[in-house]
Amino acid sequence: MSLTNETLFARAQRVIPGGVNSPVRAFAAVGGTPKFITRAQGPYFWDAQGQRYIDYIGSWGPMILGHADQDVLHAVHEAMLMGFSFGTPTEAEVCIAETLCQLMASIEQVRLVSSGTEATMSALRLARGFTQRDKIIKFEGCYHGHSDSLLVKAGSGLLTFSEKNAQGAPSSAGVPADVARHTLVLDYNDSEQLEQVFAAYPDQIAAVIVEPLAGNMNLVRAHAEFLKTLRRLCDAHGTVLIFDEVMSGFRVALGGVQALTAIRPDLTCLGKIIGGGLPMAAFGGRRDIMAHLAPLGPVYQAGTLSGNPIAVAAGLATLKKIQAPGFYDRLHAQTRKLVDGIILHARTAGVACCADHVGGMFGIYFSKTIPQAYAGVCESDIDMFKRFFHAMLSAGVYLAPSAFEAGFVSIQHDDQVIEETLLAVEQSFASMQVV
Ligand SMILES: Cc1ncc(COP(=O)(O)O)c(C=O)c1O
Repeated sequence: MSLTNETLFARAQRVIPGGVNSPVRAFAAVGGTPKFITRAQGPYFWDAQGQRYIDYIGSWGPMILGHADQDVLHAVHEAMLMGFSFGTPTEAEVCIAETLCQLMASIEQVRLVSSGTEATMSALRLARGFTQRDKIIKFEGCYHGHSDSLLVKAGSGLLTFSEKNAQGAPSSAGVPADVARHTLVLDYNDSEQLEQVFAAYPDQIAAVIVEPLAGNMNLVRAHAEFLKTLRRLCDAHGTVLIFDEVMSGFRVALGGVQALTAIRPDLTCLGKIIGGGLPMAAFGGRRDIMAHLAPLGPVYQAGTLSGNPIAVAAGLATLKKIQAPGFYDRLHAQTRKLVDGIILHARTAGVACCADHVGGMFGIYFSKTIPQAYAGVCESDIDMFKRFFHAMLSAGVYLAPSAFEAGFVSIQHDDQVIEETLLAVEQSFASMQVV
Protein backbone atom coordinates (compact mmCIF):
# COMPACT_ATOMS: atom_id res chain seq x y z
CA MET A 1 0.00 0.00 0.00
CA SER A 2 1.45 3.40 -0.93
CA LEU A 3 1.96 5.86 1.91
CA THR A 4 -0.57 8.67 2.16
CA ASN A 5 -0.69 11.53 4.64
CA GLU A 6 -3.86 9.94 6.05
CA THR A 7 -2.37 6.48 6.60
CA LEU A 8 0.75 7.99 8.15
CA PHE A 9 -1.32 10.21 10.43
CA ALA A 10 -3.40 7.19 11.53
CA ARG A 11 -0.19 5.31 12.36
CA ALA A 12 1.27 8.37 14.09
CA GLN A 13 -1.79 8.83 16.28
CA ARG A 14 -1.42 5.29 17.60
CA VAL A 15 2.11 5.87 18.93
CA ILE A 16 2.52 9.67 19.31
CA PRO A 17 0.04 11.78 21.31
CA GLY A 18 -2.08 13.60 18.72
CA GLY A 19 0.20 12.18 16.01
CA VAL A 20 2.67 15.08 16.27
CA ASN A 21 5.78 15.90 18.29
CA SER A 22 4.89 19.57 18.68
CA PRO A 23 1.24 20.62 18.96
CA VAL A 24 1.29 23.40 16.39
CA ARG A 25 2.15 20.89 13.64
CA ALA A 26 -1.29 19.33 13.96
CA PHE A 27 -4.11 20.78 11.89
CA ALA A 28 -6.37 20.97 14.97
CA ALA A 29 -7.01 24.69 14.43
CA VAL A 30 -7.85 24.40 10.73
CA GLY A 31 -9.12 20.83 10.36
CA GLY A 32 -7.78 18.14 8.07
CA THR A 33 -4.63 16.05 8.06
CA PRO A 34 -1.12 17.47 8.43
CA LYS A 35 1.17 16.66 5.52
CA PHE A 36 4.04 14.28 6.19
CA ILE A 37 7.06 15.87 4.58
CA THR A 38 9.66 13.60 3.02
CA ARG A 39 12.16 16.06 1.55
CA ALA A 40 12.80 19.76 1.06
CA GLN A 41 14.87 21.89 -1.27
CA GLY A 42 15.13 25.68 -1.52
CA PRO A 43 11.65 27.23 -1.02
CA TYR A 44 9.82 23.91 -1.49
CA PHE A 45 9.01 20.72 0.35
CA TRP A 46 7.26 17.55 -0.78
CA ASP A 47 4.85 15.34 1.13
CA ALA A 48 4.57 11.56 1.29
CA GLN A 49 2.28 11.60 -1.75
CA GLY A 50 4.80 13.51 -3.85
CA GLN A 51 2.84 16.78 -3.69
CA ARG A 52 5.10 19.86 -3.83
CA TYR A 53 4.40 22.89 -1.63
CA ILE A 54 5.89 26.36 -1.45
CA ASP A 55 6.94 26.43 2.19
CA TYR A 56 6.18 29.51 4.31
CA ILE A 57 6.80 27.75 7.63
CA GLY A 58 10.54 27.31 7.14
CA SER A 59 10.62 24.95 10.14
CA TRP A 60 8.99 27.82 12.11
CA GLY A 61 11.83 30.20 11.35
CA PRO A 62 15.26 28.58 11.06
CA MET A 63 15.36 27.96 7.29
CA ILE A 64 16.25 31.50 6.24
CA LEU A 65 18.61 30.17 3.53
CA GLY A 66 15.93 27.86 2.17
CA HIS A 67 16.08 24.10 2.57
CA ALA A 68 19.19 21.96 2.13
CA ASP A 69 21.54 24.85 1.41
CA GLN A 70 24.69 23.39 -0.18
CA ASP A 71 27.16 25.30 2.02
CA VAL A 72 25.40 24.33 5.24
CA LEU A 73 25.16 20.76 4.02
CA HIS A 74 28.89 20.72 3.32
CA ALA A 75 29.72 22.18 6.75
CA VAL A 76 27.51 19.60 8.48
CA HIS A 77 29.06 16.78 6.49
CA GLU A 78 32.60 17.90 7.37
CA ALA A 79 31.68 18.18 11.05
CA MET A 80 30.05 14.75 11.08
CA LEU A 81 33.20 13.13 9.77
CA MET A 82 35.04 14.36 12.86
CA GLY A 83 32.54 12.77 15.29
CA PHE A 84 29.05 13.56 16.53
CA SER A 85 29.42 14.79 20.10
CA PHE A 86 32.30 15.01 22.56
CA GLY A 87 30.99 16.52 25.79
CA THR A 88 34.12 18.69 25.91
CA PRO A 89 34.79 22.26 24.73
CA THR A 90 35.52 22.77 21.01
CA GLU A 91 37.00 25.63 18.99
CA ALA A 92 33.82 25.86 16.87
CA GLU A 93 31.83 26.78 20.00
CA VAL A 94 34.24 29.63 20.64
CA CYS A 95 33.86 30.75 17.01
CA ILE A 96 30.08 30.83 17.15
CA ALA A 97 30.10 32.59 20.55
CA GLU A 98 32.48 35.21 19.10
CA THR A 99 30.21 35.61 16.07
CA LEU A 100 27.09 36.07 18.22
CA CYS A 101 28.84 38.62 20.46
CA GLN A 102 30.00 40.50 17.38
CA LEU A 103 26.62 40.49 15.60
CA MET A 104 24.30 41.23 18.53
CA ALA A 105 25.16 44.62 19.99
CA SER A 106 23.97 43.83 23.53
CA ILE A 107 25.70 40.46 23.92
CA GLU A 108 29.05 40.41 25.73
CA GLN A 109 28.96 36.75 26.70
CA VAL A 110 26.77 33.91 25.50
CA ARG A 111 25.91 30.36 26.52
CA LEU A 112 24.79 27.75 23.99
CA VAL A 113 21.80 25.49 24.66
CA SER A 114 19.73 23.15 22.50
CA SER A 115 16.30 24.81 22.23
CA GLY A 116 14.60 28.18 22.56
CA THR A 117 12.74 26.85 25.58
CA GLU A 118 16.03 26.14 27.32
CA ALA A 119 17.32 29.59 26.40
CA THR A 120 14.36 31.49 27.88
CA MET A 121 14.08 29.22 30.92
CA SER A 122 17.79 29.64 31.67
CA ALA A 123 17.73 33.41 31.08
CA LEU A 124 14.88 33.72 33.57
CA ARG A 125 16.64 31.64 36.19
CA LEU A 126 19.74 33.75 35.69
CA ALA A 127 17.75 36.98 36.04
CA ARG A 128 16.14 35.65 39.23
CA GLY A 129 19.50 34.56 40.60
CA PHE A 130 21.09 37.88 39.71
CA THR A 131 18.36 40.05 41.24
CA GLN A 132 17.38 37.62 44.03
CA ARG A 133 13.75 38.31 43.17
CA ASP A 134 10.96 35.94 42.03
CA LYS A 135 8.40 37.91 40.03
CA ILE A 136 8.57 38.24 36.28
CA ILE A 137 6.50 40.13 33.73
CA LYS A 138 5.47 38.70 30.38
CA PHE A 139 2.92 39.83 27.82
CA GLU A 140 -0.25 38.17 26.70
CA GLY A 141 0.18 36.37 23.40
CA CYS A 142 3.98 36.23 23.58
CA TYR A 143 5.35 32.68 23.58
CA HIS A 144 8.69 31.94 25.17
CA GLY A 145 8.80 28.15 25.04
CA HIS A 146 7.19 25.73 27.43
CA SER A 147 8.92 26.10 30.79
CA ASP A 148 6.55 26.41 33.76
CA SER A 149 7.03 30.12 34.55
CA LEU A 150 6.33 31.07 30.95
CA LEU A 151 3.22 29.00 30.27
CA VAL A 152 0.98 31.77 31.49
CA LYS A 153 -1.17 33.41 28.82
CA ALA A 154 1.28 32.20 26.24
CA GLY A 155 1.02 32.47 22.47
CA SER A 156 1.66 30.06 19.57
CA GLY A 157 0.13 26.60 20.04
CA LEU A 158 -1.21 27.71 23.39
CA LEU A 159 -3.38 30.33 21.71
CA THR A 160 -4.53 27.78 19.21
CA PHE A 161 -5.51 25.19 21.78
CA SER A 162 -6.32 26.78 25.14
CA GLU A 163 -9.42 28.33 26.52
CA LYS A 164 -8.85 31.98 27.39
CA ASN A 165 -7.01 32.01 30.70
CA ALA A 166 -7.75 33.86 33.85
CA GLN A 167 -5.11 36.47 34.79
CA GLY A 168 -1.99 34.75 36.08
CA ALA A 169 -3.45 31.28 35.61
CA PRO A 170 -1.31 28.68 33.87
CA SER A 171 -1.90 28.08 30.14
CA SER A 172 -1.23 24.40 30.64
CA ALA A 173 -2.27 21.68 33.07
CA GLY A 174 0.69 20.58 35.17
CA VAL A 175 2.01 24.07 35.90
CA PRO A 176 1.73 24.62 39.67
CA ALA A 177 -0.34 27.71 40.56
CA ASP A 178 2.47 28.52 43.01
CA VAL A 179 4.84 28.92 40.06
CA ALA A 180 2.37 30.78 37.82
CA ARG A 181 1.61 33.32 40.54
CA HIS A 182 5.07 34.80 40.14
CA THR A 183 4.32 35.58 36.48
CA LEU A 184 2.54 38.88 35.93
CA VAL A 185 0.86 39.04 32.53
CA LEU A 186 0.30 42.41 30.88
CA ASP A 187 -1.08 43.58 27.53
CA TYR A 188 1.46 43.96 24.74
CA ASN A 189 2.13 47.59 23.79
CA ASP A 190 0.41 48.92 26.94
CA SER A 191 2.97 51.22 28.62
CA GLU A 192 0.47 52.48 31.18
CA GLN A 193 -0.04 48.99 32.61
CA LEU A 194 3.73 48.62 32.86
CA GLU A 195 4.02 51.83 34.85
CA GLN A 196 1.25 50.65 37.20
CA VAL A 197 2.79 47.23 37.82
CA PHE A 198 6.24 48.66 38.50
CA ALA A 199 4.62 51.15 40.89
CA ALA A 200 2.85 48.28 42.67
CA TYR A 201 5.97 46.06 42.91
CA PRO A 202 8.87 48.55 42.74
CA ASP A 203 11.59 46.20 44.02
CA GLN A 204 10.15 42.74 43.40
CA ILE A 205 10.36 42.21 39.65
CA ALA A 206 13.35 40.12 38.56
CA ALA A 207 12.81 40.33 34.82
CA VAL A 208 10.60 41.45 32.00
CA ILE A 209 10.65 39.04 29.07
CA VAL A 210 9.26 40.23 25.76
CA GLU A 211 9.26 39.32 22.09
CA PRO A 212 10.37 42.72 20.75
CA LEU A 213 8.50 41.76 17.61
CA ALA A 214 5.75 39.32 18.49
CA GLY A 215 5.51 36.33 16.20
CA ASN A 216 3.43 33.92 18.24
CA MET A 217 0.09 35.73 18.16
CA ASN A 218 0.52 36.25 14.43
CA LEU A 219 2.98 39.12 13.76
CA VAL A 220 2.47 42.12 16.03
CA ARG A 221 4.96 45.00 16.09
CA ALA A 222 6.06 46.49 19.40
CA HIS A 223 5.62 50.27 19.49
CA ALA A 224 8.94 52.14 19.83
CA GLU A 225 7.54 54.01 22.82
CA PHE A 226 6.57 50.71 24.53
CA LEU A 227 10.12 49.35 24.22
CA LYS A 228 11.57 52.65 25.46
CA THR A 229 9.27 52.55 28.48
CA LEU A 230 10.36 48.99 29.18
CA ARG A 231 14.03 49.97 29.13
CA ARG A 232 13.45 53.01 31.33
CA LEU A 233 11.41 51.13 33.95
CA CYS A 234 13.81 48.18 34.08
CA ASP A 235 16.71 50.61 34.61
CA ALA A 236 14.84 52.50 37.31
CA HIS A 237 13.91 49.34 39.23
CA GLY A 238 16.98 47.13 38.79
CA THR A 239 14.97 44.68 36.67
CA VAL A 240 16.61 42.56 33.97
CA LEU A 241 15.18 43.26 30.51
CA ILE A 242 15.14 40.08 28.40
CA PHE A 243 14.50 40.26 24.67
CA ASP A 244 13.31 36.92 23.38
CA GLU A 245 14.70 37.04 19.86
CA VAL A 246 14.49 33.28 19.32
CA MET A 247 12.26 34.05 16.35
CA SER A 248 13.16 37.63 15.39
CA GLY A 249 16.95 37.36 15.86
CA PHE A 250 18.64 37.24 12.42
CA ARG A 251 15.16 37.01 10.88
CA VAL A 252 14.32 40.72 10.67
CA ALA A 253 17.85 42.14 10.47
CA LEU A 254 21.41 40.97 11.09
CA GLY A 255 21.39 42.25 14.66
CA GLY A 256 17.76 41.36 15.40
CA VAL A 257 15.05 43.78 16.50
CA GLN A 258 17.55 45.42 18.85
CA ALA A 259 19.50 46.60 15.80
CA LEU A 260 16.35 48.17 14.33
CA THR A 261 15.21 49.92 17.51
CA ALA A 262 18.51 50.74 19.22
CA ILE A 263 17.01 49.56 22.53
CA ARG A 264 19.53 47.28 24.23
CA PRO A 265 18.22 44.49 26.46
CA ASP A 266 20.26 43.12 29.36
CA LEU A 267 19.84 39.54 28.13
CA THR A 268 18.86 38.17 24.72
CA CYS A 269 17.53 34.72 23.86
CA LEU A 270 18.34 33.30 20.45
CA GLY A 271 17.42 30.09 18.63
CA LYS A 272 16.08 28.88 15.30
CA ILE A 273 18.36 30.55 12.68
CA ILE A 274 21.52 30.25 14.80
CA GLY A 275 21.27 26.46 14.48
CA GLY A 276 20.58 26.53 10.73
CA GLY A 277 17.83 23.92 11.20
CA LEU A 278 19.66 21.81 13.78
CA PRO A 279 18.87 21.93 17.51
CA MET A 280 20.75 24.92 18.86
CA ALA A 281 19.84 28.07 20.78
CA ALA A 282 21.60 30.50 23.09
CA PHE A 283 21.19 33.20 25.68
CA GLY A 284 23.59 35.99 26.39
CA GLY A 285 24.06 39.59 27.36
CA ARG A 286 25.75 41.71 30.00
CA ARG A 287 28.99 40.22 31.28
CA ASP A 288 28.21 41.07 34.92
CA ILE A 289 24.93 39.15 34.70
CA MET A 290 26.36 36.19 32.75
CA ALA A 291 29.10 35.87 35.41
CA HIS A 292 26.42 34.56 37.78
CA LEU A 293 26.20 31.32 35.76
CA ALA A 294 27.90 28.10 36.89
CA PRO A 295 30.81 27.36 36.94
CA LEU A 296 31.59 31.04 37.76
CA GLY A 297 28.52 31.80 39.83
CA PRO A 298 25.65 30.27 41.77
CA VAL A 299 23.02 29.93 39.00
CA TYR A 300 23.07 26.39 37.65
CA GLN A 301 22.60 25.65 33.97
CA ALA A 302 23.98 22.77 31.88
CA GLY A 303 23.39 20.51 28.88
CA THR A 304 24.82 17.22 27.55
CA LEU A 305 24.40 18.28 23.92
CA SER A 306 24.90 22.05 24.40
CA GLY A 307 27.16 23.34 21.64
CA ASN A 308 26.89 20.06 19.73
CA PRO A 309 29.56 20.20 17.00
CA ILE A 310 27.21 19.36 14.13
CA ALA A 311 24.61 21.95 15.19
CA VAL A 312 27.37 24.52 15.68
CA ALA A 313 28.73 23.79 12.18
CA ALA A 314 25.26 24.32 10.66
CA GLY A 315 24.85 27.51 12.69
CA LEU A 316 28.23 28.94 11.75
CA ALA A 317 27.69 28.22 8.05
CA THR A 318 24.24 29.87 8.22
CA LEU A 319 25.51 32.92 10.12
CA LYS A 320 28.30 33.33 7.56
CA LYS A 321 25.90 33.37 4.62
CA ILE A 322 23.43 35.84 6.11
CA GLN A 323 26.27 38.34 6.52
CA ALA A 324 26.69 38.60 2.73
CA PRO A 325 26.18 42.19 1.55
CA GLY A 326 22.59 42.83 0.48
CA PHE A 327 21.22 39.63 2.07
CA TYR A 328 18.63 41.41 4.23
CA ASP A 329 17.75 43.94 1.51
CA ARG A 330 16.82 41.07 -0.75
CA LEU A 331 14.95 39.15 1.97
CA HIS A 332 13.06 42.31 2.86
CA ALA A 333 12.24 43.07 -0.79
CA GLN A 334 10.93 39.58 -1.52
CA THR A 335 8.76 39.57 1.62
CA ARG A 336 7.52 43.08 0.75
CA LYS A 337 6.46 41.81 -2.70
CA LEU A 338 4.51 39.00 -1.10
CA VAL A 339 2.79 41.28 1.41
CA ASP A 340 1.99 43.99 -1.16
CA GLY A 341 0.50 41.36 -3.47
CA ILE A 342 -1.70 39.96 -0.69
CA ILE A 343 -2.96 43.45 0.17
CA LEU A 344 -3.66 44.20 -3.50
CA HIS A 345 -5.56 40.95 -4.15
CA ALA A 346 -7.57 41.38 -0.95
CA ARG A 347 -8.60 44.87 -2.05
CA THR A 348 -9.52 43.69 -5.54
CA ALA A 349 -11.55 40.79 -4.17
CA GLY A 350 -13.19 42.92 -1.47
CA VAL A 351 -11.89 40.61 1.29
CA ALA A 352 -11.23 42.20 4.69
CA CYS A 353 -7.63 41.07 4.93
CA CYS A 354 -4.42 42.97 5.59
CA ALA A 355 -0.78 41.96 5.88
CA ASP A 356 2.47 43.22 7.36
CA HIS A 357 6.11 42.17 7.53
CA VAL A 358 9.43 43.00 9.13
CA GLY A 359 12.39 41.57 7.22
CA GLY A 360 11.61 37.97 6.33
CA MET A 361 8.74 37.53 8.79
CA PHE A 362 5.14 38.30 7.81
CA GLY A 363 1.58 38.28 9.13
CA ILE A 364 -1.74 37.89 7.31
CA TYR A 365 -4.79 39.11 9.25
CA PHE A 366 -8.44 38.69 8.33
CA SER A 367 -9.33 42.04 9.83
CA LYS A 368 -9.64 45.61 8.57
CA THR A 369 -6.59 46.85 10.46
CA ILE A 370 -3.32 45.35 11.64
CA PRO A 371 -3.61 44.18 15.27
CA GLN A 372 -1.52 45.91 17.95
CA ALA A 373 -1.99 43.33 20.70
CA TYR A 374 -3.46 39.91 21.42
CA ALA A 375 -7.03 41.21 21.75
CA GLY A 376 -6.86 42.61 18.21
CA VAL A 377 -5.67 39.27 16.82
CA CYS A 378 -8.58 37.52 18.54
CA GLU A 379 -11.01 39.88 16.80
CA SER A 380 -9.81 38.80 13.35
CA ASP A 381 -12.01 36.39 11.36
CA ILE A 382 -10.60 32.98 12.22
CA ASP A 383 -13.09 31.14 9.96
CA MET A 384 -11.96 33.18 6.98
CA PHE A 385 -8.38 32.27 7.82
CA LYS A 386 -9.26 28.56 7.86
CA ARG A 387 -10.87 28.77 4.42
CA PHE A 388 -7.91 30.73 3.09
CA PHE A 389 -5.44 28.25 4.58
CA HIS A 390 -7.11 25.27 2.89
CA ALA A 391 -7.55 27.06 -0.43
CA MET A 392 -3.82 27.92 -0.39
CA LEU A 393 -2.86 24.38 0.61
CA SER A 394 -4.88 22.96 -2.29
CA ALA A 395 -3.00 25.35 -4.56
CA GLY A 396 0.34 24.03 -3.24
CA VAL A 397 1.21 26.77 -0.72
CA TYR A 398 1.87 25.67 2.87
CA LEU A 399 1.12 28.41 5.41
CA ALA A 400 1.25 27.91 9.17
CA PRO A 401 -1.94 26.07 10.16
CA SER A 402 -3.11 28.71 12.64
CA ALA A 403 -4.23 32.34 12.53
CA PHE A 404 -1.94 32.93 15.52
CA GLU A 405 1.35 32.25 13.75
CA ALA A 406 3.66 34.43 11.66
CA GLY A 407 4.99 33.27 8.28
CA PHE A 408 8.60 33.02 7.09
CA VAL A 409 10.21 33.79 3.75
CA SER A 410 13.62 32.41 2.80
CA ILE A 411 16.24 33.91 0.53
CA GLN A 412 15.26 31.19 -1.99
CA HIS A 413 11.74 32.61 -2.39
CA ASP A 414 12.56 34.35 -5.67
CA ASP A 415 10.26 36.35 -7.96
CA GLN A 416 8.88 33.26 -9.64
CA VAL A 417 8.00 31.65 -6.29
CA ILE A 418 6.36 34.84 -5.01
CA GLU A 419 4.39 35.20 -8.27
CA GLU A 420 3.20 31.60 -8.03
CA THR A 421 2.15 32.26 -4.43
CA LEU A 422 0.27 35.42 -5.37
CA LEU A 423 -1.60 33.59 -8.13
CA ALA A 424 -2.72 31.13 -5.45
CA VAL A 425 -3.70 34.06 -3.22
CA GLU A 426 -5.80 35.61 -6.01
CA GLN A 427 -7.55 32.30 -6.74
CA SER A 428 -8.09 31.59 -3.03
CA PHE A 429 -9.70 34.98 -2.39
CA ALA A 430 -11.91 34.48 -5.46
CA SER A 431 -13.01 31.04 -4.29
CA MET A 432 -13.76 32.40 -0.81
CA GLN A 433 -16.09 35.05 -2.23
CA VAL A 434 -18.41 32.64 -3.99
CA VAL A 435 -19.01 30.36 -0.97
C1 LIG B 1 9.90 33.74 20.58
C2 LIG B 1 10.11 32.30 20.92
N1 LIG B 1 10.73 31.99 22.07
C3 LIG B 1 10.96 30.70 22.42
C4 LIG B 1 10.54 29.67 21.61
C5 LIG B 1 10.80 28.26 22.02
O1 LIG B 1 11.75 27.69 21.17
P1 LIG B 1 11.86 26.10 21.02
O2 LIG B 1 10.63 25.67 20.27
O3 LIG B 1 13.13 25.90 20.25
O4 LIG B 1 11.92 25.51 22.38
C6 LIG B 1 9.88 29.95 20.42
C7 LIG B 1 9.41 28.86 19.56
O5 LIG B 1 8.69 29.04 18.61
C8 LIG B 1 9.66 31.30 20.06
O6 LIG B 1 9.04 31.64 18.94
